[in-house]
Amino acid sequence: MKRSIVLGAGKYLPECRITNDDLTRWMDTTDEWIQQRTGVKSRHFATEGEGVADMCANAARDALKMANMEAKDLEFIILATLSPDYAMPGSGVLVQKYLGCETIGALDVRNQCSGFIYSLSVADQFIRSGMYKNVLVLGGESHSSGLDLSTRGRDISAMFGDGAGAVILGAVDVEEGEEAGILTTHLHSEGHFLRSLWCEQPGSIFRPRMTPEIFNNDRWFPKMKGRFVFTHALRRFPEVMNEALEASGYKVDDLDLFIPHQANLRIIEFVARQIEIPMEKVFTNIQKYGNTTAGTLPICITEAIEENRLKDDDLLLIASFGAGFTWGSVLMRWKTPPALRG
Ligand code: ACO
Repeated sequence: MKRSIVLGAGKYLPECRITNDDLTRWMDTTDEWIQQRTGVKSRHFATEGEGVADMCANAARDALKMANMEAKDLEFIILATLSPDYAMPGSGVLVQKYLGCETIGALDVRNQCSGFIYSLSVADQFIRSGMYKNVLVLGGESHSSGLDLSTRGRDISAMFGDGAGAVILGAVDVEEGEEAGILTTHLHSEGHFLRSLWCEQPGSIFRPRMTPEIFNNDRWFPKMKGRFVFTHALRRFPEVMNEALEASGYKVDDLDLFIPHQANLRIIEFVARQIEIPMEKVFTNIQKYGNTTAGTLPICITEAIEENRLKDDDLLLIASFGAGFTWGSVLMRWKTPPALRG
């Protein structure tokens, strides 16, 4: 049987680091408010000409290095983002070009904070079916060019940051009953609540799609009903985490590491309390990067490897919740990437 393990991982954060104090230059906010309500201390913002595909390609280069592989070894690219470089085509084909891969397929996924979980699940299905052996899975965002940095948009703008992460999923053969890599994935959506966290314009539902009025209104900035989203996150995270554990016959105590999507430190702490997992087993880096949406989980996975938080045979659960609403989880029996074994 084919199963998917992580062969390498990488991250890229733009050089420009913005502290909470920096934000006070543009909006009425304070370092204290942002830290207390979200846990964020700083985030990175991309600069002119630095697109999502550039960031993803940089993260991919590090992942290839860790995996001791070359771009020509990749067979398929999946890229998750809500902030693609261009309206069309998707950013996946740009990464194919930047890395100089052969004419392999490139698929863009638009599932916001759950984009990376959805992408991992798709990559896992390709590997399980035997269609591909090595799939590059990317998540990245360039939020900063589309944020309302005035006081009007401070609830959202104080949370978001730019960055990208990459994971190379590779096929391994396992015997019946043997566990390696991704054990189970669970994906959900509830479009009924699309207006609770969305960016309405420009969109193809409007004719024409772009007008001077659209540019002058505030509907091209993301909008969020913060508390409403917060309460749904608190319900859906534990649900989808338990779904993964039950499907595989495990209990919370069996987990070695939980990597949640990093939207708000308070959400992470609430969820940890709810499912009764100690914070020592919960990975967080929202303090440094804010919410990098599709980029968050591959950045976390990379840092968990760098910080030695993942050991061979650890049981790892990752989960996300975000706009759509969409949410999901992936349970993994972690295998040290072969190129890192002593
Ligand atoms: N600085 C200072 N004050 C602020 C700021 C800010 N940056 N932002 C909001 N406020 C004010 C509000 O205007 C409000 O003032 P008022 O009481 O005078 O009206 C007050 O602070 C409280 O606002 P709330 O929105 O009620 O604050 P809350 O404690 O809920 O925190 C937050 C807001 C951080 C956005 C929180 O609701 C949250 O994290 N929600 C969920 C986010 C999430 O999980 N999103 C999903 C992933 S993102 C994705 O999918 C793309």
